[in-house]
Amino acid sequence: MCGIIGYVGKKEKKKILLDGLQELEYRGYDSAGIAIIENQRLKHFKAIGKLENLREKTKKYESSNFGIAIGHTRWATHGKPTELNAHPHLGKYSFVVHNGIIENYQEIKAELQNKGITFLSQTDSETIVHLFESDYEKNRDSFQAFTNTINRLDGAYATLLITEVEEETIFFAKNGSPMLIGFSGEDIYFASSDTPIIRKATEVYYLEDGEYGYSKDGNVTLFNQEGEKSFIKKPLTTNKASAQKDSFRFFMEKEIYEQGRVMGETMMGRVLDNSINFDELEKSLFENITNIKICACGTSYHSALTGAYLLERIAKIPCQVEIASEFRYKEPLLQASTLFITISQSGETADTLEALKMAKRAGLKSLSICNVDNSSIVRESDNAILTRAGIEKGVASTKAFATQTMVLWMFTLYVAQLKKSITQEQLQTEINAMIHTPKALLVTDKLHAKLHRLSKRYLHGHGFFFIGRDIFFPLALEGALKLKEISYLHAEGYPAGEMKHGPIALADSELFTIALMPSSMQYEKIKSNVEELSARDATILAISPKPFELADDCIRTKYSSHPMLEFFEMMVATQLLALEISIRLGNDVDMPRNLAKSVTVE
Ligand code: F6R
Repeated sequence: MCGIIGYVGKKEKKKILLDGLQELEYRGYDSAGIAIIENQRLKHFKAIGKLENLREKTKKYESSNFGIAIGHTRWATHGKPTELNAHPHLGKYSFVVHNGIIENYQEIKAELQNKGITFLSQTDSETIVHLFESDYEKNRDSFQAFTNTINRLDGAYATLLITEVEEETIFFAKNGSPMLIGFSGEDIYFASSDTPIIRKATEVYYLEDGEYGYSKDGNVTLFNQEGEKSFIKKPLTTNKASAQKDSFRFFMEKEIYEQGRVMGETMMGRVLDNSINFDELEKSLFENITNIKICACGTSYHSALTGAYLLERIAKIPCQVEIASEFRYKEPLLQASTLFITISQSGETADTLEALKMAKRAGLKSLSICNVDNSSIVRESDNAILTRAGIEKGVASTKAFATQTMVLWMFTLYVAQLKKSITQEQLQTEINAMIHTPKALLVTDKLHAKLHRLSKRYLHGHGFFFIGRDIFFPLALEGALKLKEISYLHAEGYPAGEMKHGPIALADSELFTIALMPSSMQYEKIKSNVEELSARDATILAISPKPFELADDCIRTKYSSHPMLEFFEMMVATQLLALEISIRLGNDVDMPRNLAKSVTVE
């Protein structure tokens, strides 16, 4: 979703901004812009579409004296992706960039318009800059004007403001959307995540909600509702892991291939010879806990659903799964005996973060499963397990899903050990299977070539149904989500046994059914569900280690002994299918239309 970068210092600012925005590009955006004040001159540039367009527009511009600079990539929420709606937004002498949503912007806008102020964009963000200037014109105190401005805002924001009346200062505020400050000598950086400032800044401070302030003369002055406050910087990692595509065509493709390797990282130090160990978890985590609730969105919700099957079946603990955006407003009845787990790749998803805050307010213990250390969700949780997938750049999540699912499988065994709901022999069987997971995730040339060939037969039709049972039902949901995200074809995931309760009405030769048919879990049941579809002439692509004579096409998988190994192997096949269909359709695999990598608005 939208990205922010800011800089105060003597270095060439255009490069810092554009390179920083490039690092945030994978999050999804549809326009970008920068604003710089140097030698009392304010310059700004905006462009719709890719960053190359902004680079082209700024080709002749350079800025190498002391100055202040802000930049933004915008993912449209209020108003179309146009140059006027792109950030930074201009008042008369100030510029603002903003992530999040100002909920009361219409009221503020109407008030300012009544005072004769003209708005150029359709965005909520523009209200910030006009509110600031209208206050400044009354009181001639820029920091007070900024403070009064943010006190008027309801909703979520991370914002930077620069103004010609204070040309050595960046004003900043954070509430609900991520923002951090990077430090390197006299250079000060701002960003919505740490990637753009890694190897530029050496230390970092992650702003908390309700914090605001300004940066001037190489210093940062920080406030919250109680007044000025001190803060402790942390060392910033130098590990960029900012994936290059290597020889792959797309980041998503590279990330699919990486899954075997990263799974080794996910398991390291956790999967021991005959037990599962999570050093990061408090020993008291399970005291007085009788049940688990998992809350997440999108792909992370699918891994949560998979985890719930495992937790109930193996760890014998009741487990409910909730979509975060539904959970927030359903007035849920929460009990202190529930362990509240959130799952998030980015750790910044607004709905998941708010659900977590609600659970904490109700006194629940919390645990997050996340790929980004120091993200808002990790910081907000009592306990966190990092999935260690490395940075994921493809908007369509692959290795994050795989590692989340692995963490949930390991966590299930960990709980089962604690609750003694598993025998040592069963535990050993699970661990032996787990150790084989990296192999189940290997992409062979043969498999990839087969999916490449097959994909040409699945470019039309009136829709796809991915079907499965038990843990293969969430995998079906995930397979369908992957396909629709990057191919823009209609796809649904369905429990195989439910087809005859309605959707089978759609069956004809133009309905493509991707049937997940594991041999180690309810094979006969799913087989008869697929036979019902085949009898109605649906086109069947079976993914199974067993031959299935009614299938029009078949991907023969290797593993047949353990459901989780079958799960991971089939997951790779569905990811490659989506990838190859998308490539044949000529789509932008890594940055599909309308999508953002990190959804920081509700
Ligand atoms: C799909 C995808 C999204 C995310 C969802 C939640 O490929 O990535 O559905 O899973 O937006 O994001 P996180 O996991 O960052 O909370």
